[in-house]
Parts: sequence; structure tokens; C-alpha cells
Amino acid sequence: MTDAYTRFVRSAPGKAIAKRTGLPRPARLPRRADRPGTVLGPAVVLGHGEGAEQITRHLLGHGADVRRRVEELRKVGTVVLVLDEIAAPAELSATLLPLAGAMRSLAPGARVVAVSRPATGEDPARDAARGGVEGFVRSLAHEMRAGGTANGLQVADGVGLDAPAVLGALDFLLSARSAFVTGQFLTVSRDAGTAPADPARPMAGRTALVTGAARGIGAAIARTLAADGARLVLLDVPAAGTELARLANELRATPVQLDVTAADAGDRLVAFLRERHLVLDSVVLNAGITRDKMFANMTPERWDPVIAVNITSQITLMDTLLAAQQQDGDVLGEQPRVVSLASTSGIAGNTGQTNYAASKAGVMAFVDALAGRLEPLGGTANAVAPGFIETEMTAKIPPLRREIARRVSSLQQGGLPVDVAEAIGFLASDPAGGIQGRTLRVCGQNIVGR
Ligand code: NAI
Repeated sequence: MTDAYTRFVRSAPGKAIAKRTGLPRPARLPRRADRPGTVLGPAVVLGHGEGAEQITRHLLGHGADVRRRVEELRKVGTVVLVLDEIAAPAELSATLLPLAGAMRSLAPGARVVAVSRPATGEDPARDAARGGVEGFVRSLAHEMRAGGTANGLQVADGVGLDAPAVLGALDFLLSARSAFVTGQFLTVSRDAGTAPADPARPMAGRTALVTGAARGIGAAIARTLAADGARLVLLDVPAAGTELARLANELRATPVQLDVTAADAGDRLVAFLRERHLVLDSVVLNAGITRDKMFANMTPERWDPVIAVNITSQITLMDTLLAAQQQDGDVLGEQPRVVSLASTSGIAGNTGQTNYAASKAGVMAFVDALAGRLEPLGGTANAVAPGFIETEMTAKIPPLRREIARRVSSLQQGGLPVDVAEAIGFLASDPAGGIQGRTLRVCGQNIVGR
């Protein structure tokens, strides 16, 4: 699915005009269907120490051609910068600068991932170096070309770079599953989570609930989780019953017609799950609505439903599921993964979206607090903040604003529902066990916010 402008600048005359005038020329982003493998070769691992050795061994395990010196390669598909041991900003250059000469040799859709550690407030020089990695990655992402991405992986002190949680997150960032994620950091805060038995089906053996599943991003999440091997419970409002039933048939999923804002929604869901002996390993809280209006014209009719659907329903649903689990068990699996939908509007704010941004900023704070409640169960809670994604929701934005929203990102295009779904698929799976209370932006490094 490409927009009209992108189709034009990819045509022969459009290409010539765009080149002459400096208009944006959005690249084709590689997605899992085009590039199913994890590592785009050849790969180079820059950096020293045990961590660099561990990452090298891991990439070799994927069958990749892996080098330790970038000069050995004329074309580079993957670069991993291993910076876990840096102690001062002056040490950054030894690992980073060898990449400078190779920037023009990066293959289309190349991946650069910097593996470092988060600042801890204990050592000013070391924190300055660790903070420096963030500035570097966010800037490099702006300079990537041809659909390439640059991201960071921050691994808490004490967690080895060979932990399954680290390697799982690295694989996500290296693969085509992260096509619309760039300029972002994933933080692995603990050594938890396991490598999937079958990497091609990381959700095999897990049961996942997806709310708002009948269309748009929710339907893409359902399709992605099904392809990853999950058994699915798909929830949407009764009015979307026909679309929901069609999708459930296609994916051999269990449909449930429920308005998440109904006072008894949680209880009805628990009863439904118990009746069918369904235990949820992953819960994807996707149902959401917009009712945009400038704040000067805001009314309760526009404010209240947005808060009710986008955040209050999530709080109530999780409260009910956790209470039922504590009381009689058999509602949530052993290491439940909760993933909620935030939005870049909740990070940076947006004109006409005071209600929506309040609800989505609420989601980010909610998953952070919920993570603490799930931790004793071995569970996690995280959010994904999509930027501009091509869906029915964004098709309603006036054409000029829609066109600007698409172009103001490093990747110069809107994302597809599948891009959000892939990030959710990762956070909902076993290997994401080390990521806790975070929000991952899937926005092509939209200039909105950080
Ligand atoms: P959509 O409008 O295409 O789909 C939303 C789905 O949620 C629909 O199937 C709808 O029936 C369902 N739903 C709404 N109220 C419900 C309720 N009370 N109970 C049960 N189901 C309900 O929206 P889209 O674009 O797929 O968005 C999905 C999520 O992603 C939302 O949370 C949205 O806020 C978020 N998002 C979307 C972005 C985009 O660019 N499309 C950007 C940022 C966030």
C-alpha cells in the first residue's frame, strides 16, 4: 500500500523531478514478506570485549557472513556497534568512526544497532558516554538512506549480552520486522524471557487476546500473531461483528463481541474465557478511537468516550483479569505479556487532540505502573506508540495535513498496520521478557517529540 505521492516519485518522470527539486523520495521499506531472514548480510560487529564476541557468535549462529573489520567489506547489510564497556565519551570514536567510511557502502534496508548500557547516575564520565550513544544513534537514523534504520539496545548493568532477552531484542531490531522503527532505543532491564523453540513461530503455544481486532491495526496484529503461531481471541464491538467473524474464520480464532467500555466488560470476558478454557499468555489492548476537536470547542461528548475507550477500559480490564487470576487462577498464563497502544500524540501532543493525547500519555504511564504489578507473575507490560500509520482512522485527516504527517519522518512515509503489528508481536512474545514498562515508537522517526 503506497500513497499517491510515493507512487509518483517512483515513476520515471516523478523520479527526475524529485531529484532536480530535492523533493522527498521515500524508499521501499523491506518487510518480513520480502526478507524473512533475521540478519541482512554481510554483517560487521564493531567494538571490543566479551560482549562483541558474544554478539558475533550469535550472528554467526544465524548463518550470516560476519566480519570484525568494516574495511573487509564492499557492501554492508548489518552493523552492530558494541559499546557496553565504554567508560568516557573520548572512547566512543574508536568503535563509531570506522562506520563513517562505510556509510556509502550500506545496502538498501541496512540495519545499524548500537548495543550499550543505560546511564545509572553513578559515574558522570561513564553516563556521559552512555548518553552520547543516544545522541549518536538518533542523529545517525536521520542520515540513513534507502530504507535503512539505526536503533539502540540498552542493556542494564549485570545482564550479559548473550541473555536471550538481549539477543531476542537484537534480532527484532536487525530483522525486517522493525521496518518502521528507527532512531529508537529498546531497554532490556533484566535477564528474563526465553528464546523461542521455533524462531519462525515465536508465538507458538501462546494464546493472545487482541481488542479492537475487526479492522485496521488490530486486524494486522491478529494476522501477524496468527502467522507467528498464536491461538487468538479476537474482541470487537457488536457493530463490527461481521468483519470480526470473517477475520476469526480466516485465522481460526475465537471471536468475542464486547464493548470494552461496558460496565461488566471485564467480568463477561473472564466468564467467556473460563467457559472455553482459554488462558491468556498475551493481551493486546488495541481498541481505540479519536474524536478530534480544538480544545476551545471541546465537549464532554468528544472528551469522555476517548478517555473511556482508550485508557479507562484498559485499566478496568486488567484489574478484572488480575483479580480473577488471583482468586481462581487459569485466566492469565505463566509469564503474561501485556502490550497496549499509545501514540506519538501522547508523547509530543498534537493540535486538536487534547483528549486523545491525554488518553495515550495515560497509556504510557499505565503500562509503567502495570509492569510493577505483573513482575511478581513473571509478566511484562509495555506499549507501542505508532506515528502516522495508513488506516481508516488516518484516512479521515484532511489531505494536506495527511500529506505533511507522512513526510515529516526520517523514512518520509506513513507506516503500514503490519509495522505496528510486528513490534507488538515482538513485545507479546517470550524473548521480550527483559523489557518492562516501556513505550516503543513505531513512527519512522517522526519529528514529533523525541
Ligand atoms: P480503527 O478505527 O481502524 O480500529 C479500531 C478498532 O477498535 C475498530 O475495529 C473498533 O470497532 C474497535 N473499537 C472501538 N471502540 C471499541 C470498544 N468500545 N470496544 C471494543 N472495540 C472497540 O483504528 P486503528 O487506526 O486501527 O487504531 C488502532 C489503535 O492504534 C488505536 O488504539 C489507535 O489509537 C492507535 N493508533 C493508531 C494510529 C494510526 O495512525 N492509525 C497512530 C497511533 C495510534
